[in-house]
Amino acid sequence: MRALLLWAANNSWLSTHVPHWGFVRRAARRFMPGESYEAALKAAADFKAQKIGSVLTQLGENIRALSEATEAVEHYEKVLEAAAAAGLEPEISVKPTQLGLDIDPDATFANLNRLAAAAAAVKGFLWIDMEGSAYTDRTLELYNRLHGRHPGVGICLQAYLYRTAADVFRLLSFKPSIRLVKGAYAEPADRAFPAKRDVDANYLALCALMLPDVSRKRVRLVLGTHDMAMIDRVARYADAIAMDRHQLEVHMLYGIQSKQQVRLAAEGYRVRDLISYGDAWYAWYLRRLAERPANMWFVARQMLG
Ligand code: FDA
Repeated sequence: MRALLLWAANNSWLSTHVPHWGFVRRAARRFMPGESYEAALKAAADFKAQKIGSVLTQLGENIRALSEATEAVEHYEKVLEAAAAAGLEPEISVKPTQLGLDIDPDATFANLNRLAAAAAAVKGFLWIDMEGSAYTDRTLELYNRLHGRHPGVGICLQAYLYRTAADVFRLLSFKPSIRLVKGAYAEPADRAFPAKRDVDANYLALCALMLPDVSRKRVRLVLGTHDMAMIDRVARYADAIAMDRHQLEVHMLYGIQSKQQVRLAAEGYRVRDLISYGDAWYAWYLRRLAERPANMWFVARQMLG
């Protein structure tokens, strides 16, 4: 089922037609407060009242013309200003292929550079998503170039890739910001652990590798996961090396483990909710279904009701 859903995410006929089906649109709403950025900002304000921060992301990937990337940059500049004006500590998360990586890496760098400057101007932060493994080298290269100019930029790394331990090791030499996730794309067995238990074991090992540097404030580590058992295990490691709770940071997706987000924030962990919005939700939504195929029942219920 996971493989089928990830195949469907990249199928061009389905991506043109499925977003018009009302029951799929209704089901996708479970993971986003609305398609407009105003809806996302309102959700962010509601989270703030519960001591939960936010990261905003306009859905979109694999654009075909650089003019679309410019539109995305201008949109994010507006969002950063609006979020700052609303008293939110503005953080955004962007996909390199949303900013032109399939077309022109230098133009993508210029776009990221512009967004990093816009984020810095409002004391905000720019996260770079990690897409399929065909983009890993180029995305890390963009991060290496950006980090020297803008400290307020972080990158997502995926625990399912064999290479990630080596990437972490290299990045730790220059005070990086890393959002560690398990990984959401279809990857071949020569690049990524096929078995979930191995991905989980690698996730924990990577955290153990980074935690001493987190405690010395040499890395901003974000656990990008909804896996409460994993968060608990990492928290115990952190306790063992006398780390403060406030130094552990967890980001989750809107609509998933909502009660646990509130609980973790109330217990003193730093929590942010990654809020997605926009109309280009098809491939992203299919990846959410693939993560938990039981979500398909929810889609079926929307179709019947
Ligand atoms: P796991 O899959 O083990 O799930 C643990 C538990 O969480 C499940 O038992 C279930 O209860 C709940 N859960 C997980 N996914 C769910 C879903 N879709 N619906 C309902 N419940 C669900 N990936 C990537 O490749 N590049 C990226 O840039 C990012 N960015 C990113 C940012 C943030 C903040 C998060 C939280 C995640 C990502 N991801 C990502 C996605 C990530 O790679 C991964 O696919 C998902 O987080 C699911 O894995 P978990 O770590 O939650 O664990």
